[in-house]
Amino acid sequence: MTDTARYLPSLVYLVPSLLVALYALRGSPPHSNVLPAPADRGLDSLPPNSRVREIYPENWLEGGGYVTLPLGRVKYWIVGPENGKKVVLIHGLTTPALAFARIVPLLVAANFRVMVYDLYGRGYSDAPRTAPYDTNMYVTQLALLLQHVGWDRTRLVGYSMGGAIAAAFVATFPNLVEKDVGLIASAGAGEKGIPLTSYRHFALARWIVFQGFLRRITKGRSTAVELPPASEIAPLQAASLPGYSRAVASSLHEGPIVRMRWAFRSRNWKGRRVMFIFGTNDTVVKPVDVTTLRATLKEYADPDVRVVDVAGAGHDVVVTHAPLLAAALVEFFEDKVKYV
Ligand SMILES: *[C@@H]1O[C@H](CO)[C@@H](O)[C@H](O)[C@H]1NC(C)=O
Repeated sequence: MTDTARYLPSLVYLVPSLLVALYALRGSPPHSNVLPAPADRGLDSLPPNSRVREIYPENWLEGGGYVTLPLGRVKYWIVGPENGKKVVLIHGLTTPALAFARIVPLLVAANFRVMVYDLYGRGYSDAPRTAPYDTNMYVTQLALLLQHVGWDRTRLVGYSMGGAIAAAFVATFPNLVEKDVGLIASAGAGEKGIPLTSYRHFALARWIVFQGFLRRITKGRSTAVELPPASEIAPLQAASLPGYSRAVASSLHEGPIVRMRWAFRSRNWKGRRVMFIFGTNDTVVKPVDVTTLRATLKEYADPDVRVVDVAGAGHDVVVTHAPLLAAALVEFFEDKVKYV
């Protein structure tokens, strides 16, 4: 009796420590090589009358389709005249293809053939469970999607993280990209990782990073004219899609957001035309980041660069200044204006 009482205090520490050690050292289940790889479903698994699908209905554009790729199902839409100049728009970290809701109709009106799609883990595309959301995942997703729709080459426009994906795509699959590349508020200048990256395999680390991020974006929205629902769609996806927070947290830790300057140093930019568009009041991708990316391109392959700075615009420039952006992109792709 007295012995037990003597050991009780150390047992109080010993038992939880053992449990923690066992948890940390636990093994993994055997790796599955089945394709398509295990994934969580996208928005199509929710009832059509759910709030997030009311904001972002599957038929927000005509011409929608699905393709099942090795890492899961991908949703895309193709609109505009069949013989129009082809352009693919790549969205960013949190908001799916809906981010381009105001730009797509304007490009179609200018006779472009436009493809938009949801990146893995966002909107209607599946969220792979076992693969990191890294540059390899995103460039491969686009290359296989182009193969599926039978597009040999396309113009590219990337917004925010989509800009870094576009740059990596030029560096990796130059033969699939036309001469002209548009980069809107493009990520890729930063070289410093976010905290907890070494612990990214722990669910707790992913949770902390995602929650911190969610708080920042819901607070940091500009109050300017906006599609009201766009500010809602990140938290709604987080609440209703089982794979969404994993996709965003993994993209923050190992995705095409930081340590991407290699893509802008690629020789594959040689002879291309690049247009940077950014908001002068953007606090997410700062104007100085655009200066860094321009300097990197210039130092290595020195393509023709044009810059459009949108006075007073924030990071949601694709929503707040859609007509201006669409006009700039059309003029750029049609190469009507000569510049130095
Ligand atoms: C942009 O930033 C400047 C300087 O911080 C500020 O004076 C101006 O009001 C901002 N413009 C908008 C549209 O937010």
